[in-house]
Amino acid sequence: MRVYLDNAATTPIAPEVFECMIPYLQNEFGNPSSTHFYGRQAKAVIENSRRSIAKHLNCNPAEIIFTSGGTEADNMALHTSIEALGVKRIITSAIEHHAIGHTAEYLAKHENVELVHVKIDSKGNVDLNDLENLLQKDIKTLVSLMHANNEISTLLPLDKVSALCKKYNAYFHSDTVQTMGHYQFDLQKTPIDFLTCAAHKFHGPKGIGFLFVNKMLKVEALIHGGAQERGLRGGTENLYGIAGLAKAMDLAYEDVIGHQNHVQALKSHMIESLHQHFDDIYFHGETNPEKSLYTVLNCSFPKTDKAGMLLFTLDLKGIACSGGSACSSGAVKGSHVLEGIKADGTRPNLRFSFSRYTTKAEIDYAVEQLVTVFSKTLV
Ligand SMILES: Cc1ncc(COP(=O)(O)O)c(C=O)c1O
Repeated sequence: MRVYLDNAATTPIAPEVFECMIPYLQNEFGNPSSTHFYGRQAKAVIENSRRSIAKHLNCNPAEIIFTSGGTEADNMALHTSIEALGVKRIITSAIEHHAIGHTAEYLAKHENVELVHVKIDSKGNVDLNDLENLLQKDIKTLVSLMHANNEISTLLPLDKVSALCKKYNAYFHSDTVQTMGHYQFDLQKTPIDFLTCAAHKFHGPKGIGFLFVNKMLKVEALIHGGAQERGLRGGTENLYGIAGLAKAMDLAYEDVIGHQNHVQALKSHMIESLHQHFDDIYFHGETNPEKSLYTVLNCSFPKTDKAGMLLFTLDLKGIACSGGSACSSGAVKGSHVLEGIKADGTRPNLRFSFSRYTTKAEIDYAVEQLVTVFSKTLV
């Protein structure tokens, strides 16, 4: 049996998304910038996709800029805030994805910009009082805080942070890579300046995403070149990716509450089963469903002398999960997120992440195998 529990790293493409992309890899292959039939046909696919995505977020289609995915969109938000909006300070946290963390560090080093980390608690919650204190300083600021942490699942109260940023006139970017397609967004109700999306986190293709940019902002390109995306992102558009992204989003929002209920039930079931089988287990980040991304469960297991072999052993048993953030998997380096919340570094951590295709039988198999593996290795 093979069980895929690494959906925060990437999700399988939905069959409907795959089907929808095929024509653009075959006959409808035109370059959207061409003025002939093929080009116009391709252009229409892109603009229809943009409109349909905007509808899901209750925003204007012109506010969607297609990118190669989450990392590029995060980079664009940070760079353009400094280069076009005149931001002089970035407030972020120590547990952001590297697409934000490393970009912010780069900008602090190479541009005249101050980098500040807001306080977080041991579950990864942002200290909103500290954020408000920081925002009182009179300096043009961008707040970049992720909506859900990809490793420990803790959710940011977007509406509260949005209100604080409004109150103190700061720009607000949220990395919504793990939540787009999983939660409903209404950008008229919760005003945000920048949002980031990656299609492969909700059963769309890899290599495509977008940056939402509030239409009031005059931003500039990160990737310079042709006039694509109204001059804001040069390069021939990823036609089949864009069509796949729009389709994945349609499917995600067709029954988003149904998906949430299904996946949250699996997560709760896994927590309960693990508690039944392991006396000494706890979970990083929030587990309260109100405050926790329902697709991610980060477990702190009892100490074992075989900790370094855990992922490998589970892989041999057919279970795909992650030891931290899978985006950096391959690099055997401690997780900056677990470090950021001062997690006990001597205990093994495993992240399990679920999708709407995950079944209860798969969770039961995974728990069964975990019990076997740990019963042989506990010290
Ligand atoms: C929170 C978060 N931001 C950004 C990214 C990067 O997205 P992409 O892989 O599309 O570049 C990831 C990927 O895992 C992520 O989890």
